[in-house]
Amino acid sequence: MPGIYLHIPFCKHKCTYCDFTSFPDRLAFAEAYMACLYKEIELRGKQLESCTFDTVYFGGGTPSIIDPKYIYGAMKQIQKCFHLAKNPEITIEMNPGTVSEQKIALYKKAGVNRFSVGLQTAIDDQLKNLGRIHTARDFVYTCGLLRGENFSADVMLGLKGQTKEDLFKTIELASRCGAKHISMYALTPEDGTPIYTDYLNGELPDGDEVRELYDYGYALLKERGYLRYEVSNFAKKGFESRHNLNYWRRGEYIGLGVSASSFFFGKRFTNTFDLDEYMKCVLSGFPPVVESETVEKEDAKFEFLMLALRTVYGISAHKYTEAFGSDWREDFADAYQKTGKYLEEEGDITRIKDEYLYVQNQILTEYMNG
Ligand SMILES: C[S@@+](CC[C@H](N)C(=O)[O-])C[C@H]1O[C@@H](n2cnc3c(N)ncnc32)[C@H](O)[C@@H]1O
Ligand code: SF4
Repeated sequence: MPGIYLHIPFCKHKCTYCDFTSFPDRLAFAEAYMACLYKEIELRGKQLESCTFDTVYFGGGTPSIIDPKYIYGAMKQIQKCFHLAKNPEITIEMNPGTVSEQKIALYKKAGVNRFSVGLQTAIDDQLKNLGRIHTARDFVYTCGLLRGENFSADVMLGLKGQTKEDLFKTIELASRCGAKHISMYALTPEDGTPIYTDYLNGELPDGDEVRELYDYGYALLKERGYLRYEVSNFAKKGFESRHNLNYWRRGEYIGLGVSASSFFFGKRFTNTFDLDEYMKCVLSGFPPVVESETVEKEDAKFEFLMLALRTVYGISAHKYTEAFGSDWREDFADAYQKTGKYLEEEGDITRIKDEYLYVQNQILTEYMNG
């Protein structure tokens, strides 16, 4: 079932690695921005009247930095303008250092039932180096407020000077604090971010070192009862993110807010990245879309495969045939043959063997040209 993504583009401070659309100096615009977001919810709700949505995700930026009444307001507006399924999954991203008991109480009143907390690392010096506004202690405080709730922690790999022991402390902290889900992302040094200079200077761990950290983290997570279900995502049984699973199944979703992207009715489209332009468009009643393309059938087939092979659920031959009317092994015969040694089959399902999932990108390049 489709999902709804809402982008909240405000942060207290820009992290040194961050390439997301977030404006550390524009918090004063939160009220005006949220009024526009409510309006976009209404506009899109009318167009998607016939659809039922299963998940809502407040991402950012830092959704927890704005007054929680806006999250409450956005949820009210969504309930009014969209048709939500029974028991929808409603997630909010939160940064330690921006959370209080009152905020969480209002999120829960709004219907939020899943929290995603950006820990990144338990080592304070590394947090400082990343430009994070919080310490490991702030993370512990946030988790205390979330006791008994369904929450996830984000962890990063490949930080300057990061050792296995650092990663141990980080995963151990998230696990002891009660995270039901852990995302473990390898740092991507994005061109234009301050950390990119560290990368060019050779100050970040290289690919082999990151791979070693990943393998170490993976084993530790397994030991602590977190099962890998996607290359970077691990969960206690039953706590997988429904919102993200929909992306990997090539399900439809509508993205609302500045820079948000959508996939609906076979089209991928993206809202403007410019905050002022976003607000002007919405206030004039126009969709703030700057890019839109219909996905051609051949590209759609590759997308289906690429997304499915990131997960441990793999590709279902009959679902592929249902979607495209052909057999994926015939459509990608050459690549399928070349990559055979990395794959395993179980009935209708083909997946990347456990030991190769981390390098799925390299395997997938074979499929890129059909
Ligand atoms: C949408 S982001 C931001 C969520 C929230 N604002 C925060 O920073 O805690 C979600 C996660 O992506 C990861 N991330 C962001 N930039 C990254 C990068 N350049 N490389 C790898 N992971 C990144 C971080 O772990 C982050 O928590
Ligand atoms: S808090 Fe998150 S979104 Fe904001 S700058 Fe840092 S990484 Fe980017």
